[in-house]
Amino acid sequence: VFANVVRAPEDPILGVTVAYNKDTSPIKLNLGVGAYRTEEGKPLILNVVRRAEQMLVNDQSRVKEYLPIIGLADFNKLSAKLIFGADSPAIQENRVTTVQGLSGTGSLRVGAEFLAKHYHQRTIYIPQPTWGNHPKIFTIAGLSVKTYRYYDPSTRGLHFQGLLEDLGSAPTGAIVLLHACAHNPTGVDPTLEQWEQIRKLMRSKGLLPFFDSAYQGFASGSLDADAQAVRIFVADGGECLAAQSYAKNMGLYGERVGALSIVCRTADVASKVESQLKLVIRPMYSNPPIHGASIVATILKDRDMFHEWTIELKAMADRIITMRQKLFDALSSRGTPGDWSHIIKQIGMFTFTGLNTEQVAFMTKEYHIYMTSDGRISMAGLSSKTVPHLADAIHAAVTR
Ligand code: LMR
Repeated sequence: VFANVVRAPEDPILGVTVAYNKDTSPIKLNLGVGAYRTEEGKPLILNVVRRAEQMLVNDQSRVKEYLPIIGLADFNKLSAKLIFGADSPAIQENRVTTVQGLSGTGSLRVGAEFLAKHYHQRTIYIPQPTWGNHPKIFTIAGLSVKTYRYYDPSTRGLHFQGLLEDLGSAPTGAIVLLHACAHNPTGVDPTLEQWEQIRKLMRSKGLLPFFDSAYQGFASGSLDADAQAVRIFVADGGECLAAQSYAKNMGLYGERVGALSIVCRTADVASKVESQLKLVIRPMYSNPPIHGASIVATILKDRDMFHEWTIELKAMADRIITMRQKLFDALSSRGTPGDWSHIIKQIGMFTFTGLNTEQVAFMTKEYHIYMTSDGRISMAGLSSKTVPHLADAIHAAVTR
């Protein structure tokens, strides 16, 4: 009965790892998926995460019962504080509802399903380009996806004018997906002044902000600085949605731990919204897993552990920044044609190199370097040892 099923293509990001795993070359390098690696090229479990896990194991009172539909209460509260700020009036006035989600993707999906059911505008504007999963998540939830200009290939920077024009001509009430920081894939963010202009424009048109916050603390090394864009919007008292992921900033990729917050105008509305979020979640996966959320809650609620986390987080962010400088220096010393200053200007996990599909294919074939076909490289996958190999490959690709 399934004979007519057509084979689907591999995922453009996760499929890169599939191809990488098949390669038997000893020099192969995976710069596809955004996953942090140490200087030795190994995945990293943060010390503070190990410590939290040990505490959880030792705690004899812990059980593995179902969590409530919306997840672990402590985790939800602490997650809202982390993104909106401990002194956020929206939290103090109980205008925020937060539900635990399956990392960033699951949280975005729950938000999208809620909007498709309960919000009057079904159109969502996403940046061009954006993370490859965004259009799929929103389309499958029943929203209609449109794009707004974001990146200007000629300057390798923000297309601010295009962004303002496109959002300015969006229909009243449309949803707008915004990357809270460290835009994926471009590594290009608006400045705080530009965020303020975006906020004014969006509020004047009644556009609904939906933030994807996958890199808080990873972009600048500061949790507060990386939440500024979200906080600017919440400070004006208007509505907003925010999806958080702990995949990158706590290295909890496979634990699938994240949160969706919806900021409302009143506490009464927030509690009604929460009741509807339960109806979205229950038939989808019933209730979320307990382990990852317990790790996060353990760390966020303990002052010492929180502090230890910020230090480890900053070390990861700093290592990525060092890799940017090393790659830039390596290309400069090779005299590679072109301006590569965007490598050090862009922020977050990724560099949007400007390399085209053919150049990427060449680097994979000849140098066993794996990256997404749009020319994005995960700087977090690079180490001092592998920088020369990557620089050789880029040099060969652009001088071919
Ligand atoms: C990425 O963009 O590489 C990450 O967010 C991982 C993913 O799920 O695509």
